[in-house]
Amino acid sequence: MKIAFFDSGIGGLSVLHHAMKILPCGEFIFFADEDHVPYGTKSRESVTKYVDEAFKFLMTLEVDAIVVACNTATSVAVKEMRRKYNLPIIGMEPAIKKAIDLYGDKRILVTATPITINGEKIHNLIERLGKREIIDLLALPKLVDFAERLEFDSEEVKNYLSEKFSAYDFKKFSSLVLGCTHFNYFKDVMKNLLPENVKFVDGNEGTLKELMRRLNIFENKKINSDPKVEYYFSERKISNADQLKRIEIYLHRLDKMYLL
Ligand code: DGL
Repeated sequence: MKIAFFDSGIGGLSVLHHAMKILPCGEFIFFADEDHVPYGTKSRESVTKYVDEAFKFLMTLEVDAIVVACNTATSVAVKEMRRKYNLPIIGMEPAIKKAIDLYGDKRILVTATPITINGEKIHNLIERLGKREIIDLLALPKLVDFAERLEFDSEEVKNYLSEKFSAYDFKKFSSLVLGCTHFNYFKDVMKNLLPENVKFVDGNEGTLKELMRRLNIFENKKINSDPKVEYYFSERKISNADQLKRIEIYLHRLDKMYLL
């Protein structure tokens, strides 16, 4: 079974990282659209075009399913991709329902890219959940650029986040939803800026559960030690040592963030 994980950039690695821990050995393709990242500040038309190009390419690799490990691409283009391509396509959306299920009626801060925050999809979701009055939405587009340049805990990152967080009285909040896969790299920095009562919620687990349900596969109880993964930056297969090293740095960072 060959499963593709697709993102605008290296955010989707956080979903693949989790998949490598819980899915039985399979074959994984990771596709980061490094030629076009970031998506979250571009037009919906451009993002749809990039996603379509990426899907066309992934189909040539004969994948069995595509995980859109990108909330932004899901928000803009997943419907159209499902119409065009005949294979299981698993999308991702900010895990607001999970936050409500886990933490009840205290306030929830949902962070994501501007496209996701302004898109119809998230507003429909909030409407359906019937809890609009306890939800705040915050776009953090600069985190995508920071993550892409391997800048995780610099003064600039800390200042950016503390300025963005200064608008909220976090004593009233139960949780912060990581509604962009790039944000998983900043959990330690965020944690230092937030009181203990604020817990992180992301969509990785829900997305993989849906993938397993669709493909009828079962969680591997033992750690998947040697999964086969091919990495692509846009349509270029990664084989040179420097780029593989860059991937390693991200995976190492994700190991550190995993249980926070
Ligand atoms: N990682 C993506 C997401 O989950 C988007 C980042 C971007 O390209 O702006 O939304």
